[in-house]
Amino acid sequence: MDIKILENIKLSDYTTFKIGGLAKYFVVVKSEEELFATINWANKKDEKIFVLGGGSNLLFSDDGYDGLVIKNEIKGLEIVSENESEVIVRVYSGEIWSKLVYFTIENGLYGLENTFYIPGTVGASPIQNIGAYGTEIKDVFYNLKAVDIKTGEGRFFNLEDCNFSYRDSVFKKELKGKYFILWVEFKLSRSGKLNLNYPDVQRVLEERGIKEPSLRELTEIIREIRDSKLPNPAVLANAGSFFKNPIINPEHFKVLKEKFPDIKSFVDEQGFKIPAGWLIEQCGFKGKTFGPVGIYEKQALIIVNHGGAKQKDVLGLVENIKQEVKNRFDIDLEEEVNVL
Ligand code: EPU
Repeated sequence: MDIKILENIKLSDYTTFKIGGLAKYFVVVKSEEELFATINWANKKDEKIFVLGGGSNLLFSDDGYDGLVIKNEIKGLEIVSENESEVIVRVYSGEIWSKLVYFTIENGLYGLENTFYIPGTVGASPIQNIGAYGTEIKDVFYNLKAVDIKTGEGRFFNLEDCNFSYRDSVFKKELKGKYFILWVEFKLSRSGKLNLNYPDVQRVLEERGIKEPSLRELTEIIREIRDSKLPNPAVLANAGSFFKNPIINPEHFKVLKEKFPDIKSFVDEQGFKIPAGWLIEQCGFKGKTFGPVGIYEKQALIIVNHGGAKQKDVLGLVENIKQEVKNRFDIDLEEEVNVL
């Protein structure tokens, strides 16, 4: 099997943040066979492996990556089983996320519509349990197959094995960096039931007097909300939400509510989830620029690269934000972006 291993490739070209030094080795993998050949190559040379999907949630080091970066382009999508109420779709991990969602919408399958336009690939979706507008992929996840990047052995993970929680899974914890996700299966429904609970979605529906939107109407609304708040990485480099929304306990929330009566919150199974964008805005960062980096003017949760930023510029701003939020609210913000 012929694989084409490249050397000294600029990682900034492969991330939406446009930041990162050189990868010592780099390879594009388009099939399972190429993946196995690549794993063999890396093991023989004793090189560590990093798996790259869409590069939309990553902040690479300015020193690059001292090992092999595998750019996953293993594609394919198929219906593996169906009945009158449900359909199981298997998607290979190198597919673009929105292509999958588009397929489900075209075929009248419900469950992923609120996640339309999330950048990135299918392989990243279970790693951090991606979500938007009240839906997380754990809600429709069925099964996945992953490959051990040391041994090449395959392993299946069901919902329980993945241990999903808010922007988190077993693949970010004890199994971090150990598996290459090969394909993911989602269980979608033909029911016609939409999730319209997210405040922004409700607001737009009310404004337009729409009570029961169609699947297409809802996805158009989602697109409009995203466009109004989130910067297009092709125009302004960024990696989406930089921080997770912190979850605090009821006592802490009570104290903050007394001090900041207009504090926003969502009740989560783990506690009170506070929008980090609100916290950062309160600290005066929204729309500000610090050299080559800044905070997006319409959504304070997003750090942007105005051009030529280095990882150290982003991390400097991150420390500054964390410190201010800690001082004012006694909350420790945690990165949502994968910092390498
Ligand atoms: N808010 C502010 N100021 C800001 C930003 C937000 O006050 O600058 C307030 C808003 O007014 C709103 C609340 O915070 O009341 C929530 O804001 P928004 O609906 O924009 O969502 P978010 O909590 O900031 C999360 C996800 C996004 C996802 C949106 C919509 C995380 C870390 N982020 O953001 O996901 O698109 O909800 O579902 O959970 C991503 O993960 O990269 C991402 C963009």
